Amino acid sequence: VAIPLRELFKDYFLIGAAVTPQQTDLGTAHGQALKTHYASLTAENVMKPDALQRVKGQFTWDNADRIVQFAKNNNMKVRGHTLTWHSQSPDWMFYDENGDLHTPEVAMKQLEEHITTVVSRYKGDVYAWDVVNEAMFDWDPNGQIIYREDSPWYKIMGPAYIDSAFVYARRADPDAKLFYNDYNSIFSWKRNKIYDLVKRLKDNGIPIDGIGLQGHWSVNTTESDLRTTLNLFRELGVELHITELDIPVYASNDEPGSTEYNSTFSFRQKVAYSMIFNVLLDYSDIITNVTFWGIGDDHTWLDKPGRKAFPFLLDEELKPKPVYFEVQKLVQKR
Ligand code: G3I
Repeated sequence: VAIPLRELFKDYFLIGAAVTPQQTDLGTAHGQALKTHYASLTAENVMKPDALQRVKGQFTWDNADRIVQFAKNNNMKVRGHTLTWHSQSPDWMFYDENGDLHTPEVAMKQLEEHITTVVSRYKGDVYAWDVVNEAMFDWDPNGQIIYREDSPWYKIMGPAYIDSAFVYARRADPDAKLFYNDYNSIFSWKRNKIYDLVKRLKDNGIPIDGIGLQGHWSVNTTESDLRTTLNLFRELGVELHITELDIPVYASNDEPGSTEYNSTFSFRQKVAYSMIFNVLLDYSDIITNVTFWGIGDDHTWLDKPGRKAFPFLLDEELKPKPVYFEVQKLVQKR
């Protein structure tokens, strides 16, 4: 019999899921699965800048509030995602009415207002924020390009927005944990840049509490990439959250898509998820939250027509898959 995930992991870390507001309803299967399994919620989309402040000065809270209220009612924490990002942010944050980039002063002021308003509203309710999302350049083995230079934030003022975002967030809620969040963070070309960034922020007295490692990993993810990264980040003395965990079933992008879950997929996922959770449990002194980027296989950003990703431990009906029991076994053995 399946032990609820939040029970299973309670001695190690909070286990969470990314959600839509519609899913946070106890009258639905999703709401019931959330209540049973998860101790932490993240809004998949509705706390992003374009969702909260599409029009300058006009904040829309309904969707985000719904998730926060559901979490409160059901004894869950909320991770806030995200305050500062180059994507899913309204154009007015970056461009004036002529389509030219704002001056650093104007953009900085708008960033401060956004962060202060959002973080203040959820003070005490959102326990951790992804203050800055995906600011580092994703591929550059020689390490020449450090920051994501196509970000309008970067184009306007270089990396200064990163430092300021953390300062504004801390001011608005001194008790919230503040995170830098990024993907591909377990690969050498990216993890070293993230390490350097966080080291620089800490050395300069910028308030940062942790690193979010987006867990968009794969059935080919290696144990050594994971352990090397966790060892490296441990040196920074920060908390770690695995923020967006999903493991699609395919071994490569070239593999033909399928809409049926089969025994090959199941086997691969058992191997991958067992390895991953074994490692995460080994680092549970520094990993304090592990959040799936969805609830069950019925809803995931990874699905394409004719090519379902089946990336979670719960199936399309939100029932535990064989890989769920594999993970359960390994936790119980510890
Ligand atoms: O809400 C509109 C809807 O009105 C419209 O009809 C429809 C047509 O395309 O689009 C809907 O918006 C979509 C939105 O998700 C809500 O479903 C956007 O097109 C779509 O681009 C958006 O995708 C989200 C993506 O971020 C955007 O970058 C995914 O749901 C979300 O899972 C994904 O999450 C990101 C994390 O925030 C950061 N890390 C990577 C991760 C995966 O890309």
